[in-house]
Amino acid sequence: MKVLAILYNGFKAAKAEPRLLGTVENELGLRAYLESQGHEYIVTSSKEGPDSDFQKHIADTDILITTPFHPGYLTKELMAKAKNLKVCVTAGVGSDHVDLNAAVDRKIQVLEVSGSNVVSVAEQVMMSILLLVRNFVPAHEQAISGQWQVSDIARNAFDLEGKVVGTLGAGRIGHRVLQRLVPFNTKELLYYDYKALPEEAEKAVGARRVEDLKEFVSQCDVVTVNAPLHEGTQGLINKDLLQHFKPGAWLVNTARGAICNADDVAAAVKSGQLRGYAGDVWNVQPAPADHPWRSMRNPLGGGNGMTPHYSGTTLDAQQRYAEGTKKILQNYFENKPQDPGNVIVGVGKYESASYGQR
Ligand code: NAI
Repeated sequence: MKVLAILYNGFKAAKAEPRLLGTVENELGLRAYLESQGHEYIVTSSKEGPDSDFQKHIADTDILITTPFHPGYLTKELMAKAKNLKVCVTAGVGSDHVDLNAAVDRKIQVLEVSGSNVVSVAEQVMMSILLLVRNFVPAHEQAISGQWQVSDIARNAFDLEGKVVGTLGAGRIGHRVLQRLVPFNTKELLYYDYKALPEEAEKAVGARRVEDLKEFVSQCDVVTVNAPLHEGTQGLINKDLLQHFKPGAWLVNTARGAICNADDVAAAVKSGQLRGYAGDVWNVQPAPADHPWRSMRNPLGGGNGMTPHYSGTTLDAQQRYAEGTKKILQNYFENKPQDPGNVIVGVGKYESASYGQR
């Protein structure tokens, strides 16, 4: 079979660090295995436009491997050209870069390595909440640029203790974020999800479910987004919803950039309506140099905690999602059942309840 992987370039770093498995250079560590089984393995980072390797090779690819970090956007139109495609594997978590409804129609399975990087992201969420609330970035900028003006930083720095923190989406990551927030003695932990947490889990973290989204955001000092991108979450956080946020709230989004309207969020940060926004996911990846989230700052010079998309691609996470990808391929080649938690779209139907209520 022909297996095509769209990965990001690692260049010198990938040559020096073989644990950077998710790179073009290190090929998810799959080449020897795939070739020993008689399969052809094409690995590339070239993914945009009709002349890209992605669009050229997709026509006769049987199995497509992509990652959310350098997404090969498999649109409905591209899928129509992929006559041999049977399986899409996301090396990581989050398969929104594949048109899932089209995959259902075309009976193309979509699998991801569920759980592989959920701790990595939950840790990033904690870091992002703290760096916003404590106004870390402008303080660090002073440290490295030779300045020392404490009042300029302290005027917008707070404690997390005593604040209300809520997660939009309380699945694997959202739940882990709630668990990690418990020792911070917040005033209250909230969550908004169409699926309730199991009673025991809800009790253990002391979180309260709020069923109306506007009510949920209006009660939070900090909102963290931990839901997949799908029709029900695309552009969900926009000008209208932002008006229901507490004035000066903080927003952290490590889920998917397109869940937020980029211009509306940037405007809210610039006006101070949001005290800050942090995340590593962008509505287009790689993000263009003039993306409004790169330069936005609040009126006091802080409030921007953006990074390139890396929270789920720590070296620890790469090992787990590379191993998980291999396991999915082995199961497929050997006709063994897949771990049900990994199946987003089975043959002709959604198997996961996380990508919207159907
Ligand atoms: P999960 O499937 O365990 O949980 C997702 C939760 O979101 C589910 O409980 C689901 O019911 C809920 N949800 C879905 N639509 C919703 C809506 N409209 N409103 C409220 N809740 C909704 O997924 P997991 O592992 O927690 O990952 C969540 C997302 O995080 C992924 O889909 C991916 O987009 C993102 N992610 C980002 C990474 C990064 O590197 N920045 C790495 C891994 C995941």
